[in-house]
Amino acid sequence: MSIRARLTLWYAALLAVLLVAFDVAVYLALSRNLYLSADRTITARAQEVSNAISQVLAARADPASYLLRERVVLPDIDVFASPEMYVQVLTAGGQLVAKSENLGDQFLPLSNATLDQVLEGGESLLETTLARQSPLRQISAPIWFGQQVVGVAQVGRSLQDIEDTLRQLRNLLLAGSLAGLAVATGVGSLLARRALHPIDDITRTANSIIEAQDLGRRLDHRGPPDEVGRLASTFNRMLARIEGLFRSQQSFIADVSHELRSPLTAVTGHLDLLAREECAGTQRRDILATARGETERMARLVADLLLLAQADAGVRLGAEPVELDTLLLEVYRQSKPLAQGVQLRLGQEDQALVTGDPDRLKQLLLNLVDNALKYTPEGGTVTLDLERVSDAAGEWARVTVTDTGIGIPAEELPRIFERFYRVDKARSRAQGGTGLGLSIAQWIAEAHGGRITVASEVGQGSAFTLWLPMGGAHHRGTEGAEKR
Ligand SMILES: Nc1ncnc2c1ncn2[C@@H]1O[C@H](COP(=O)(O)OP(=O)(O)OP(=O)(O)O)[C@@H](O)[C@H]1O
Ligand SMILES: [Mg+2]
Repeated sequence: MSIRARLTLWYAALLAVLLVAFDVAVYLALSRNLYLSADRTITARAQEVSNAISQVLAARADPASYLLRERVVLPDIDVFASPEMYVQVLTAGGQLVAKSENLGDQFLPLSNATLDQVLEGGESLLETTLARQSPLRQISAPIWFGQQVVGVAQVGRSLQDIEDTLRQLRNLLLAGSLAGLAVATGVGSLLARRALHPIDDITRTANSIIEAQDLGRRLDHRGPPDEVGRLASTFNRMLARIEGLFRSQQSFIADVSHELRSPLTAVTGHLDLLAREECAGTQRRDILATARGETERMARLVADLLLLAQADAGVRLGAEPVELDTLLLEVYRQSKPLAQGVQLRLGQEDQALVTGDPDRLKQLLLNLVDNALKYTPEGGTVTLDLERVSDAAGEWARVTVTDTGIGIPAEELPRIFERFYRVDKARSRAQGGTGLGLSIAQWIAEAHGGRITVASEVGQGSAFTLWLPMGGAHHRGTEGAEKR
């Protein structure tokens, strides 16, 4: 069942219950009031009649014979002129002595049982009887002579008008309630439809996005930022995120295949050359060396990709004490032979003990030094510094790799840490770069609770700074480091 149908149904059911309760309450209250006031008027009238006659009797010696002999004048006959009220007076023996004119030749019924009860109990008796099919409410009140009941004053009133009124009220309440319920249900259903309509829109758009496989589409929801508006904007944000991830995935795969293709083509071409017989001995060696170099490049690329995949999977790094100064010295020694024509030198070297994964930290520093050497022309200088500094966040070991190379344009700076991003593709590729080095370096730094900052000026040089928290308090990785 749809939400709309359920809402409408609940709403209608609740309204119906309320209406029934209201109707019943109104009907009961009114009918009780009407019957009570009818009883009150006839009781009061009967009392008047009985009192009036008792007063007249008090002056007589023989009340019983008076009642029979003389014509009893009903007091204040105007009171009974009202056609709804009937009065009659009987002796204790049950003989009629007077009745109001509106009775004509009819009588108010009086059963023996009632008569007996009034005479013996001396109390008024209210009862509902039937007179010619129509209900009659009547009271029989005793007429006193001293301590003795000598007669009965009866006052009756037809209940027909009250019953008619109540029947009308019943019909009115029923019709009104049914009409109200119908209208309210209809309007409620319409309102629910209007409120839920945007959700149908969202579903339709989502479906069309699935069918068209077009992640670039967005929900076109114009409305207040209510529940539905928030749903639509969340949905759009989610689409944007999925689209972004999807696009970066696509470009990542394209980049990877591209990077693998050029060394593969080179290897294949060189093998073809080898297959020709006219190759001389030295040429063969050259060809084999180039092919080997390209293969190594592919191996490096695959290793980098594997590392990044592990980074994405959230692999934890080792956490052991690392003497950063010793590590930097190793990096220096290892890179020295690669610095052809560039002067690689050690600047300030403090001692710093950090917690982390020595292999990864070394890889990070090698990447930075490799870049500095790669992008510094002959005759330039690359300097390695290690300092301990403190700021509000705590104490840091700060390694700076400063070069006097080509520098990086300011607008490129935010992008150089992206995977496969290279400022000058042709130049970088000629130098064997794939653009993964800095993304790996940044991941390693962050996994140690640190960061890498860059300052650079085109034509002047660059300075890459690695900040590592001392004491390892910020270190995220624990045991279980993977080894390359
Ligand atoms: N010290 C530097 N001086 C000038 N440009 C640099 C320097 N370091 C990095 N860059 C620029 O940033 C880009 C990204 O560097 P990154 O280390 O990620 O890639 P790469 O060195 O080209 O390739 P890889 O490190 O994967 O072999 C480089 O291609 C280069 O354009
Ligand atoms: Mg690099």
